[in-house]
Order: sequence, then structure tokens, then C-alpha cells
Amino acid sequence: MEKRDMPKNTFALKGVICYSQTPSRLAIEPDGYVVCEGQKSAGVFSGLPAQYAGIDCLDTGGCLIFPGFTDLHLHAPQYAVRGLGMDMELLDWLHTYIFPEEAKYRDLAYAQKAYSLFAEALLKSATTRACIFATLHVPATLLLMELLEQTGLITLVGKVNMDRNAVPNLQEPDAQSAAKTTVSWIRESLCRFKNVKPILTPRFIPSCSDALMQSLKKIQRAYRLPLQSHLSENTEEVEWVRRLCPDAPGYAHAYDRFGLFGTPDCPTLMAHCVHCSDEEIALLQKRGVYVVHCSQSNTNLASGIAPVRRYLDAGIPMGLGSDMAAGAHLSMFRVMADSIQTSKLYWNLADRSAKPLTVEEVFYLATMGGGSFFGKTGSFAEGYAFDAVIVDDSGLTHPQPLTARQRLERLLYLGQDKHVVGKYVNGQKVL
Ligand code: GUN
Ligand code: FE
Repeated sequence: MEKRDMPKNTFALKGVICYSQTPSRLAIEPDGYVVCEGQKSAGVFSGLPAQYAGIDCLDTGGCLIFPGFTDLHLHAPQYAVRGLGMDMELLDWLHTYIFPEEAKYRDLAYAQKAYSLFAEALLKSATTRACIFATLHVPATLLLMELLEQTGLITLVGKVNMDRNAVPNLQEPDAQSAAKTTVSWIRESLCRFKNVKPILTPRFIPSCSDALMQSLKKIQRAYRLPLQSHLSENTEEVEWVRRLCPDAPGYAHAYDRFGLFGTPDCPTLMAHCVHCSDEEIALLQKRGVYVVHCSQSNTNLASGIAPVRRYLDAGIPMGLGSDMAAGAHLSMFRVMADSIQTSKLYWNLADRSAKPLTVEEVFYLATMGGGSFFGKTGSFAEGYAFDAVIVDDSGLTHPQPLTARQRLERLLYLGQDKHVVGKYVNGQKVL
């Protein structure tokens, strides 16, 4: 092959390379090389091509190497209360446990302690990209962004908007002041950070007045920002939205009437989508809105099980979310296993035509599916961002030989952060 100039940051990782090619096709190169050129993958090879002779090559000694995971939905301030208060459904849980916790982030010293722990945990996980809710407090949100910036992970962070139906110490005084603080936060964060960008974050319809939603649309037009929120998580919540928005045919339409339900240049994430009607599903599809499946959260809060097979069949873009702390685990290994398990319950209890998710499918959702929200990320195919995770599973002992596919499958159920021994984002080593 012809010699050509290679970018400065050209290197290879050698090991068991696993990456998705389609939702159902997982490519495995059992003793392969993935090459990084600059910030991007130059592809996966069974032997190092002659053109790369002499480049740095890290031989991982048979570790599994796969694209970093994308966690498409989580709440950083809730990390502090993970594993607590799982005895209620959504609305009571928010009012009893979550709003009082989030109110603490007015105090920057508390935020510093709590967000440092969160950022460190996210860095040590197998996640390379994430879409994160903060709280409504601008100073604490900027602090979170600063801490995440230092990790080298690529994240979208949202200062939360909420001007109604919460509690006095966790609610913005009115739409106007919420919009004003949102704009000042956007301006500051756009010029301060490289790896962390702002994402518009109306908490959910019950928390945001019509005037606030109208302002957020204006802000979106001015700054061209993506948006994240919650949709149809819990039946009581859905009923409440029906009462709050009698003119909207459904919950999805309650966002759509403000132009905040997916536009071609400002993509939208909607967490949960457990109880969407046929009309809402059609609208999700029409607008290209991403569904974020948060299986463990939906189990912990007894919200239900999202019809993920239906979303996949409809070609609706989808990824997975830990939904920390309605989900108690940051680990995307756990998120993948939970997604398979609840899809089996859904098949058994709700719909025998909804085939359970496979290992290949959840791996795709955690990598390429969710990663596509950030552009060409989540695969090792040539041209994708070089986000890679090296996993040493040698501590997960076994007497019998295992194939690479079996090793990957076990990781979903047994993998922990301690097995992550290296991590790269856009070609840069972050762990
Ligand atoms: N809906 C509105 N806010 C929240 C939240 O913090 N967590 C979850 N799971 N759902 C929500
Ligand atoms: Fe959430």
C-alpha cells in the first residue's frame, strides 16, 4: 500500500476488538488491531497493514476492546442519593427525595463535593459520552461542566428549567427569569468548554409553564442547541399532562406545539417513552426524536416497560440511559443487561410478538445507537470518532474456553468499572 503522511496521533490497540456494524450485526476480530489516526478510527484489521508498520501499538494481552458507551440520560445531582428511596412512584419520589436533594446544589461547597465524586465515577466507567441533567442552579451547573471538562469525556450538560409545580426552594420564580439565567449560562458555557456543551433541558411538561417553553424555543433558534427531556414515564404523570394541556392530543404533542419535539438541526432526546400512544409514536418517528430507554429506572419506580421492540422496528433512533438515580447504577454493562431482562418480561407478560432484545442489539444501542446523537461515534468503522474502552475480564475466571462473543456476553452481566483498564476519547487517552 502507498506510503502517505499520517496524522501525529496515529497508534494501534491490539486485542479482541468488538464493534457494531448494524443493530443486529456485531463484528469481532479476536486477535485484531484498531488503528487511530488523529481523532478518528482508521478501521479494524486482522493484521497491522504495512502502511502502519512502526506506529505505536499497545498490545493489551487479549483484553476486550470496544467503542465507548454513550449514556443518553442521567442526572448528575442524583448520584449522591443512588440506591436510596426506591419505595415510591415517580411523582412522589420526585417530591419526597429528589427535589430536596437537588435544592442542595444552591450550595457550591456541597456541589463541589458531590459533583467531584460523580465526575470521577463517570471517568472510571466504560462510558465515553453522556447527556446529563444538572439542576436549575447556574453556578453549580458550570462547576459540574468544569469538572467534566477535566475528565476529557464528551458530554452535553443541561441546566434544568422548571418554573412551576415543584417546591419553593427548587423552582425558578417565573419564565422570564428562567429564560434569562438559561441564556447567561449558555453564553458562558459555550465559550468556556471544549468537551462539554450545553443542551436545553426543560425538566418535563409539568415543571415548565407555556411561557417558559416559548422562551426556550426562542433560545433554541438563537443558539441552535439540542434538547433533552422526559416523556410518558408514568401513568399518573401522563394523566397530569393531559389535565395541564387539554388542547394537546398527547404528551408528545405538548412539546411539539412549542416546536420543541425534534427539528432537523436541533435533535431531541426523550427519556422513557414507556406509555406512548400510537399517535405519539408516529410523531416520534416523524420528527426523528431519540427515545432513551432507561430500563432500570422504569423498574425501580414501577413505571412500566417501554415497548423497545416497537421503536426498533419503527426505525426510531434509540439509545440507552442509566437515568441515575432512578437507576442506581452508572455502569452501562448493567444498563444493557437490564434492558435485555425487562424486554423478556415484556415479551412474557405484555406482548408475545415483541421479541426480547439480544446481546447484539443492546450493545448496538449502548454504542452506535446512542452514539449517533453525537455524530459519527460508537463504532470502529473507518471515520468514526476514536472512542475506545479496554476491558480486562481475566478476573472473571472460567475453567472452559470461551469465545470472544461469550466473553462480551458475560461482561453485560458481570462487568464492573474495575475491569475497565483503559479509555480513549477522540483519540486521547483519558484513563
Ligand atoms: N421526570 C421529571 N424529572 C425526573 C427525574 O429527575 N427523574 C426521572 N426518572 N423522571 C423525571
Ligand atoms: Fe430522568
